[in-house]
Amino acid sequence: MTFATLVASLDDDLARIEQRVRGAADVEYPVLGDVLTAIVEAGGKRLRPVLLLLAAKPFNYDITTLAPAAAGVEMLHTASLVHDDTIDKSQLRRGQPTLNSMFDNSTVILIGDYLFAQSAIMTAETLNARAMSVFATILANVCDGQLREIFQSHRIDQTRAEYERRIFGKTASLFAGAAEMGAILAGADDESIAQLRAFGADFGMAFQIVDDVLDLRATSEQIGKPANLDLRQGTVTLPTMLYLAHANGSASVSQVRRAVDGELDTDEEYSAIATLIEESGAIEQALEAASEYIQRALDRLDIVRDAESRDNLAAYATLALNRTS
Ligand code: IPE
Ligand code: IPE
Ligand code: MG
Ligand code: MG
Repeated sequence: MTFATLVASLDDDLARIEQRVRGAADVEYPVLGDVLTAIVEAGGKRLRPVLLLLAAKPFNYDITTLAPAAAGVEMLHTASLVHDDTIDKSQLRRGQPTLNSMFDNSTVILIGDYLFAQSAIMTAETLNARAMSVFATILANVCDGQLREIFQSHRIDQTRAEYERRIFGKTASLFAGAAEMGAILAGADDESIAQLRAFGADFGMAFQIVDDVLDLRATSEQIGKPANLDLRQGTVTLPTMLYLAHANGSASVSQVRRAVDGELDTDEEYSAIATLIEESGAIEQALEAASEYIQRALDRLDIVRDAESRDNLAAYATLALNRTS
């Protein structure tokens, strides 16, 4: 099953969610409204709402309750991207100029806050305190992950555990929470809720590792955001860590160190470092780590008794590894 087939099976429900998401981006301020709408309409894979719906499918699936929560997780994601691009000083998102490339930081931070508030309003519409608590936890985790990334930047000596904790916070916590909310809102039993949360968390870890790989090996056109940006801003990701662990002592390591320290100048120099990491086999190794997370995620699905729901979740899980954008 492809992602397109999966999405097609949720067609009407996703259209409803899409409408809510676009509505929240429709702000009145001059220019800003158009730019925000352009970013929302530029696509985005909508992976988090899809996961929320898939996690609800095996249980009491009621789109009226699920839609606001699904739109809420997509808005939370969008808000975090607005802040992330400001922190990363990135000029491109979904192939469009970022808000921070057009407005000053104070304006962009406020618009991000406004979108976070919209996502909270949507989630609160479920009138489900447990779902709201999951939402608040995600928000705290995302900020925690992003802060760790800031404080750990330019540090060559970080551990795998530090990396994992950071990507759990900034990315996997949202996938974990989306699956958890779907199961909660569909009235699943506690054991299923816990397993589906763990499924989302494992998926999210793999998803971020692959994002870190794409940063090094994909073009900006493919990913709709600047390539090699992690390297340029001194964010040490798993492929770089694996490269450094193996190449320790070799002459090329000092070049990678200089990249992490932000001492290289041109795009070509950074892209040469990306090639060095790729050719060392570190990227393949990172992808193996992602694949292990996906295997763990798949093992969690034993709890889902309905075969069709289980197959859909399994198909969704494998997407993380095969994606190119
Ligand atoms: C980008 O997420 C941010 C990360 C967590 C790596 P996506 O790759 O899901 O972004 P869109 O929504 O499809 O643009
Ligand atoms: C950011 O991770 C995740 C969040 C938005 C919280 P990245 O910085 O790797 O995401 P991209 O690569 O900009 O999409
Ligand atoms: Mg970023
Ligand atoms: Mg990235």
